[in-house]
Amino acid sequence: MSGLFITIEGTDGAGKTTQIKLLEKYLRDKGFKVVCTREPGGTPISEKIRDIIIDKNNAEMTDITEALLYAAARAQHTSEVIIPALNDGGIVISDRYLDSSIVYQGFARGMGEKLIKGINRYAVGELEPDITFFLRLKPEDGILRKEKQTDLDRIEMEKAGFHQRVYDGYVRLSKRFKDRIKVIDALESVEEIHDHIVAYIDELMKKNSI
Ligand code: TMP
Repeated sequence: MSGLFITIEGTDGAGKTTQIKLLEKYLRDKGFKVVCTREPGGTPISEKIRDIIIDKNNAEMTDITEALLYAAARAQHTSEVIIPALNDGGIVISDRYLDSSIVYQGFARGMGEKLIKGINRYAVGELEPDITFFLRLKPEDGILRKEKQTDLDRIEMEKAGFHQRVYDGYVRLSKRFKDRIKVIDALESVEEIHDHIVAYIDELMKKNSI
């Protein structure tokens, strides 16, 4: 595979979408083929699975069902979109990937990292992001501010403790995988965050002779 696989992670409301758009433009302007995608989603089948997962009427969904649905959406997304784009020499920017399942299902739901990695082995095979940006935003600065809104999805409706475990989980993962996961303070300005991301990408591309 000759392309570059970039993922963006973070707690809900950390500003991933804005940064993905800016990075996409930056890379396209440099002449690269860029595919922007998201999880859960990114293919018609995976988007249907997404609707089931986040539907707040599905309150009875068990943790294992949820974890398997995320993995199923990821399996389709990986084989239908990510791998073909990388094989075509493109750059893939995914809004969330496997780290989300490790953090949300493994840590925050308490299912454990081993189980989540085991399930997801079928979905991702050997594929791993070349670089991951964790936009670090404490729950009280992000998702918990959204609590007053009425249109929250099933995951966003979780209690404060859940979002804190998600945050702690990301911090833990990023410490363990320092080389891959770059931590960026999501309270910085949009421009500052973009500049940090670009600096890391330029460095990685230089290293990989892209
Ligand atoms: P989004 O709002 O960033 O599109 O993601 C939808 C929700 O799904 C978000 O609350 C994070 C959650 N999620 C998981 O719990 N596990 C996963 O594997 C992924 C990809 C997302």
